[in-house]
Amino acid sequence: MPPVKIVEIGPRDGFQSVKEFIPTELKKEAIDRLVAAGIGKIQVTSFVSPKAIPQMRDAREVAEYVTAAYPELEAFALVPNLTGAKLAAAAGIKEIGPVMSLSESHNQANINRTVAQSIEETAKIRQEFPDLKITQDIAVVFGCPFEGRMPVEPLVELIGKIRDLGVRAFTLCDTVGVAYPKQIKAVFEKVRSAFPETEFNAHIHDTRNMGIINSYTAILNGADSVQTAIGGLGGCPFAPGASGNTATEDLAYMLRLEGYDTGLDMEKLVETVVFLRDRIEGNYSGHHAVISAPFPESP
Ligand code: COA
Ligand code: ZN
Repeated sequence: MPPVKIVEIGPRDGFQSVKEFIPTELKKEAIDRLVAAGIGKIQVTSFVSPKAIPQMRDAREVAEYVTAAYPELEAFALVPNLTGAKLAAAAGIKEIGPVMSLSESHNQANINRTVAQSIEETAKIRQEFPDLKITQDIAVVFGCPFEGRMPVEPLVELIGKIRDLGVRAFTLCDTVGVAYPKQIKAVFEKVRSAFPETEFNAHIHDTRNMGIINSYTAILNGADSVQTAIGGLGGCPFAPGASGNTATEDLAYMLRLEGYDTGLDMEKLVETVVFLRDRIEGNYSGHHAVISAPFPESP
């Protein structure tokens, strides 16, 4: 069975969309359960301004817990700037995802910077932390809530500039969930051929029930991993119309039946969804809300 890498981002993208503060102990328990279900890489939190995202104000505590409890886990964190990178490194995080947007308007709304300033910020992070793995997050790659559909040429140009800084990994984000399979295929084909030996991950929101097909299309077109959120939680508060991410359990379910080795335990994943639904009020979009039927065997 071909392996496929599902990267869990619920503790960051999922939880940031939850209004009420989730107690830190509950965040830790959610991560414990995800690890027990076989997840090998988790975006555990984000080191952002607590004024921008109050939910992430316990980033240090969560990151310190996870890095100490699970040394084998690939725990990474989103950061908007050098300050965030410093805080993440101090908490034991070895991989960070600096975030910037392909469009100027979403970059301003999200992190109050121009794209050029964000590139400069990644340059500073690269310089100051040569040993940290940097996976550049690029938001609104497929479409922007303010500027509409995004063409691929400026994306290639932006990736080129960031690659010149020494960054070799990127996550292409459909932040508001407007992508479609032909577009995903075209974008992944383009970046893969323009930048060999570069890691490209997919991050898809399920706004129009296209999360599964878009994530699957990314896998078929060479994405190194797909990011999903447990329960289908998620959404950027600074992107009007954004909704939950592709649900981890839904994608894992389909990939397993399609003959991929996800390394994940379906029962434990769904138990985690039920556990969270009972405790956290959120915009769940996953379809495995209850364990209502036995899981069919893979063919
Ligand atoms: N972590 C914690 N605090 C931070 C920070 C970080 N990474 N970066 C800046 N701050 C603090 C500063 O210390 C300053 O604090 P003070 O008001 O107590 O002096 C305050 O935030 C403002 O700093 P400034 O550099 O002027 O930032 P800003 O007001 O222009 O906001 C960001 C810029 C990037 C910090 C903010 O917009 C942000 O955190 N955005 C994240 C958005 C996000 O997570 N979106 C969803 C994920 S895509
Ligand atoms: Zn997202």
